[in-house]
Amino acid sequence: MPSAAAHPSAPPTPEGAPDPGWFTTARFGMFVHWGLYSLAARHEWVKNRERLTDEQYQVYFDHFDPDRYDPVRWARTAKAAGMRYVVLTTKHHDGFCLWDSALTDYKVTNTPHGRDLVGPFVEACRAEGLQVGLYHSLIDWHHPSFPVDGTHPQRDDEEFKAAHADRDIRDYQRYLHGQVRELLTSFGRIDYLFFDFSYAGRTWWGGKGPDDWDSPKLLETVRALQPHVLVNDRTGLPGDFVTPEQYQPSGPMTENGRPVVWEACQTLNGSWGYDRDNLDRKSADLLIRMLVDGVSKGGNLLLNVGPTGRGDLDARDTEVLGDIGRWMDLHERSVRGCGPSAYTAPAECRYTQRGDRLYVHLFAWPLRHLHLPGLAGRVRYAQLLNDASEIVPVHIEPDRPAVNTEMGGQPAGTLTLQIPVRRPDTPVPVIELFLDGTADA
Ligand code: GLC
Repeated sequence: MPSAAAHPSAPPTPEGAPDPGWFTTARFGMFVHWGLYSLAARHEWVKNRERLTDEQYQVYFDHFDPDRYDPVRWARTAKAAGMRYVVLTTKHHDGFCLWDSALTDYKVTNTPHGRDLVGPFVEACRAEGLQVGLYHSLIDWHHPSFPVDGTHPQRDDEEFKAAHADRDIRDYQRYLHGQVRELLTSFGRIDYLFFDFSYAGRTWWGGKGPDDWDSPKLLETVRALQPHVLVNDRTGLPGDFVTPEQYQPSGPMTENGRPVVWEACQTLNGSWGYDRDNLDRKSADLLIRMLVDGVSKGGNLLLNVGPTGRGDLDARDTEVLGDIGRWMDLHERSVRGCGPSAYTAPAECRYTQRGDRLYVHLFAWPLRHLHLPGLAGRVRYAQLLNDASEIVPVHIEPDRPAVNTEMGGQPAGTLTLQIPVRRPDTPVPVIELFLDGTADA
């Protein structure tokens, strides 16, 4: 298995910043959105979307009793899917806390379930050898000092707004900082933090950003408590990685012209929280292509699941994760520890590379020949990765005209491989190329 040293193409780590080696090696993680909204089962923004009051939303608190919560099963499912870290929502925008916070009553220990959920999660991940991540919402629709802004469920209730016009975000700031301190001192080593989110530019929402959260101090606290932890960029200040959400970047991500570590967070169906009647499901085939596409551009994929109110993973989620896991089982080495290649992949293909191994991922399967520009004379051996069956090169005179049964030559420097007519029975076939030592990207 590749070591946790960063891929050679990885952006340089800024002076004093934590080492992202484990993260850029892992490439694939699981996001878990779970909380009171899982009972409503119609999107984690349900309180906002339906403008529910605290009283109306209370019904989910009063019935929160995930009797089937089994974080060991979650961790094993993630691992079997080929994921190497898991990120759990400790608190989402609705303000409900999944741990026994000393700073609020709005927490799991006061629901019928009555027990902390975060500790067992951390333990289960550790036991499976997975890195541990925590998501924490900056927005809080329950806290009495969080201003009633454009994200708030009561944003259109003039009477409510007038009655709560004097809310002072500095009180909320203290709460936010105090809770982050709790999270980083109660559960041992945390590897990753996902704060969510700043919207300073959305003035029509009553924008909030680093000044509102006091992000400089927040990050200082984080660094002081757990210097190694990787923090995302959503406090409104630069973090250790950037977080494109629900789209695939069109190339390696940069900031001010410099490459940055990045991770795309993606849903299985457009919703993060359990969404019972949502049928907008991505296929395993698409999800694998998204993973590979990201790695070919130097990024990670954080793929979300939304467990049910009883704590089970949705059977539809585990099914698709099973398919991904079967592909990962055979193709792990084209993802883990890999990054972009300096070679340019042909149409419908993605290249990933680690040292002298170049992996060709075929998103479409052409007839009998695969032409790889610039690789002539640079490949020692080629095989299909799923079964290690040899793939042989064919020699065609460069640029010769096509005649009858003889295909035309390719531009000089092109390597042509002969591939079977039938594509291997796997969502994304991969050809592993062993490059000549000098051809490393
Ligand atoms: C968004 C949403 C949120 C989700 C998150 C995941 O910011 O507000 O519901 O948790 O993205 O990245």
